[in-house]
Amino acid sequence: MNRRTAVALTALTLAASVQAQGTEKLKVGLMLPFSGTYTALGVAIENGFKLFVQEQGGKLAGREIEYVKVDDESDPAKATENVNKLIRRDKVDVIVGTVHSGVAMAMARAAKESNTLLIVPNAGADAVTGAMCATNIFRSSFSNWQSSYGMGTVAAKQEKKKTAMTITWKYAAGEEMTTAFKEGFEKDGGKILKHLTVPFPNVEFQALLTEIAAAKPDAVFAFFAGGGAVKFVKDYAAAGLNKSIPLYGSGFLTDGTLDAQGDAAQGILTTLHYADDLSLPKDKAFRTAYARNYKLQPDVYAVQGYDAGQILKVGLDAVKGDVSKKAEFAAAVQKSTFDSPRGGFTMSRAHNPVQDVYLRKVVGKENQKIGIASKSLSDPARGCKL
Ligand code: PHB
Repeated sequence: MNRRTAVALTALTLAASVQAQGTEKLKVGLMLPFSGTYTALGVAIENGFKLFVQEQGGKLAGREIEYVKVDDESDPAKATENVNKLIRRDKVDVIVGTVHSGVAMAMARAAKESNTLLIVPNAGADAVTGAMCATNIFRSSFSNWQSSYGMGTVAAKQEKKKTAMTITWKYAAGEEMTTAFKEGFEKDGGKILKHLTVPFPNVEFQALLTEIAAAKPDAVFAFFAGGGAVKFVKDYAAAGLNKSIPLYGSGFLTDGTLDAQGDAAQGILTTLHYADDLSLPKDKAFRTAYARNYKLQPDVYAVQGYDAGQILKVGLDAVKGDVSKKAEFAAAVQKSTFDSPRGGFTMSRAHNPVQDVYLRKVVGKENQKIGIASKSLSDPARGCKL
């Protein structure tokens, strides 16, 4: 073989291998709760993510998507082992997960150590885009602080409440949301009388409801979600407290739960980066497609799953499907503006959405937008050095 033929052959082989790489499937690890109190949240996130991928013809940056699923059971004790199954055994290209803040922190640690791409489609743990922030970690949802700070300011300034009690599950999400509510509430002159907690995922609220009734604060702020939120809102109404002490929350208290909560939820005010009646073209299209595909109404979790897909597409397009190029991937995501069903958002330097936080009121089966609690709110990203 002469030299020219040899060079031509090498070039051909190279081209063939690049093409093969380009068409290799992209492995997406979905680590979500598929059992327990957050099951519906995990399912909505998976549905939203898959809807986005389906709208792209089943491919991102030319690569077909292959899914590997792990049920994390919202159990922090099993989180490291579960995420390592995806990283080491399945060798996924990207992980999408999860709902529970405690599980997400273990995932962020493992993603950072192994330099695996991680997109968090719910869990608000402040540290994930704070002290633990990293080039390869992104969030399509919110920080716990971001979801609840505005409710504190609304309760004090607009609703003119002077005293409040908070009630939540005792773990990072509940602790960070109630602390953020307190920060907003006390900055505007309110006073928190007491923080009440139950262990996650317990739903025995009776003793604490009795304590609230006796203390008679002007308002109560709560974080619960999924099955636990349904039970709490119903118990609060059954105790008659909804008639005497207004219940506020981060919007998770009433999102995806209104069919089950019924009358007990009417009139509850919450803050969240999504509502059921935003009347935005992108939201209308999303809601119609989601309902047609899944015979279900979407909620905030479905939106966050969908937007995890959008983030992945923007990053992958910039690196032509090569997930090893983390810095280029991150630069593209940070430069982008996302047209989300929630409204537009951009990514902060710490990789958390900068977004409007709506004030919402439960009317019938909807969380209706009645105002904006915080415009283009960015998480303070305490401790992030990116
Ligand atoms: C969390 O653990 O961060 C979390 C869980 C459920 C929600 C919101 C936040 O609805």
